[in-house]
Amino acid sequence: MRCVIITGVSRGLGAALARVLLDREAVVLGVGRSSAAGLEGERYRFAACDLADVAGIDAALAPAFGALSGLSPRSVCLVNNAATVEPVGLVAMHDGAAIDRSLAVNLAAPVALSALFLRAFADTAVERRIVNVSSGAARSAIAGESLYCAAKAGLEMLTKVLAVEVRDATFRAVSLRPGVIDTDMQTVMRAQDEHTLPGVAMFRDFKSSGRLATPEDAALRIADRIVFGTVRHGATYAWPDLDRPMPE
Ligand SMILES: NC(=O)c1ccc[n+]([C@@H]2O[C@H](COP(=O)([O-])OP(=O)(O)OC[C@H]3O[C@@H](n4cnc5c(N)ncnc54)[C@H](OP(=O)(O)O)[C@@H]3O)[C@@H](O)[C@H]2O)c1
Repeated sequence: MRCVIITGVSRGLGAALARVLLDREAVVLGVGRSSAAGLEGERYRFAACDLADVAGIDAALAPAFGALSGLSPRSVCLVNNAATVEPVGLVAMHDGAAIDRSLAVNLAAPVALSALFLRAFADTAVERRIVNVSSGAARSAIAGESLYCAAKAGLEMLTKVLAVEVRDATFRAVSLRPGVIDTDMQTVMRAQDEHTLPGVAMFRDFKSSGRLATPEDAALRIADRIVFGTVRHGATYAWPDLDRPMPE
């Protein structure tokens, strides 16, 4: 049996990926504040957790991770998918509470989830994988998106550190830049004014020029290539070419 843990299953890419993986006969554990309608059935489980509360992640999720481990899966994958683009705005606009919350969800929570995952699934006989859902924003500096860019750059470094720390042949960590997808995240970006997000025209153009992938199309390819396919430890994969890692 194959198990997949996905954060952020209320909507967007995470909800679509959970549906595809259930169709592929995986046992899916969704993690987040709520679960999308229609995610149900014998192979679906949900663990409630606000990922902004990083200190509470172990207590909230250890029982659900332990229960999955108890199923003795042949493979288990953690997809660190949940993220927020908020607060949008130039650096000088941000206050400490908003900075704290953004970096917690986008960077600290994936580290805490990775730590719990490695402890809960320590058996090297089991194929284990961590997929960190990143963004082109890890490399491209976007005015008005400092916290998101910094967190995604940090997330890609987490992948690289996992690759040098955990050398078991049965463990892989990768970063995934999923491309631009028609989700609420894009809606939030398009709705900004130019004072808050100077490059807002680019996000409006993604929509008007039809460049956005549907969450369903993105999820199908990500499931087959990145969750279940062969991947290189520590590498970054970027939509649309998920068949080979990006050059170092
Ligand atoms: N859409 C794009 O064009 C695009 C481009 C590049 C990268 N990505 C990446 O792809 C991934 C999925 O993005 P998306 O477009 O599907 O985003 P989305 O539609 O905005 O969904 C974000 C998900 O993260 C969850 N989440 C946010 N804050 C949370 C918190 N405090 N605790 C628990 N869950 C929380 C949300 O749950 P709630 O409903 O509870 O808020 C939701 O399920 C993200 O990592 C994003 O950075 C997306």
